[in-house]
Amino acid sequence: MYRLLLILLSVVGISTATGAQQRQSMNKIQSNHKILVAYFSATGTTARVAKNIAEITGGELYEIVPSKSYTNADLDWNDKKSRSSVEMNDPQSRPALKNKKGNIQEYDTIFLGYPIWWDLSPRIINTFIESHALKGKVLIPFATSGGSSITNSVKTLKSTYPELNWKEGKLLNRTDKDKLRVWIEGIK
Ligand SMILES: Cc1cc2nc3c(=O)[nH]c(=O)nc-3n(C[C@H](O)[C@H](O)[C@H](O)COP(=O)(O)O)c2cc1C
Repeated sequence: MYRLLLILLSVVGISTATGAQQRQSMNKIQSNHKILVAYFSATGTTARVAKNIAEITGGELYEIVPSKSYTNADLDWNDKKSRSSVEMNDPQSRPALKNKKGNIQEYDTIFLGYPIWWDLSPRIINTFIESHALKGKVLIPFATSGGSSITNSVKTLKSTYPELNWKEGKLLNRTDKDKLRVWIEGIK
């Protein structure tokens, strides 16, 4: 009985410590760091998630806007000649940005959101990365998709930009605000 009590007490102790550690990670991300929540969204799904992340973290919401917006025809993945198909078939494609984020040096942590396109991040994410000095910043990818995981897109971003400080990415399909908070609290 006494041993059981000891085991129970240590389990409670461990879970409390984990909770405290998570809060500490959250505090570290939120208090010491200036946060930017940068995202590209062609049809609004990733935008909704990005807005929630900005609300939870107190970070600044920033939309990555292409200089030429994507039409429905551009987004047709069944058409091999559509703009998105042509861009995604060319690893060197860099669709132009409408604007550059002027004060990027002020941010320490950047949540970087995008829809999964052909199991990757859209090429405009490469344009954004290559147009801004991101070295030394913490980059936290997140994505929405029709079902694909985020794994291959993050692996590709990491191998394309190994000099940048990438955190584990997270697919955030149908993730409510409470679950988002738990994820953010757990980022170390
Ligand atoms: C050109 C294109 C390619 C896509 N490729 C994939 C894919 O490979 N896997 C997947 O699960 N969803 C794919 N999708 C679906 C989007 O990832 C999904 O609808 C996403 O939530 C859209 O986000 P948005 O509304 O922020 O643009 C694709 C959508 C488009 C337009």
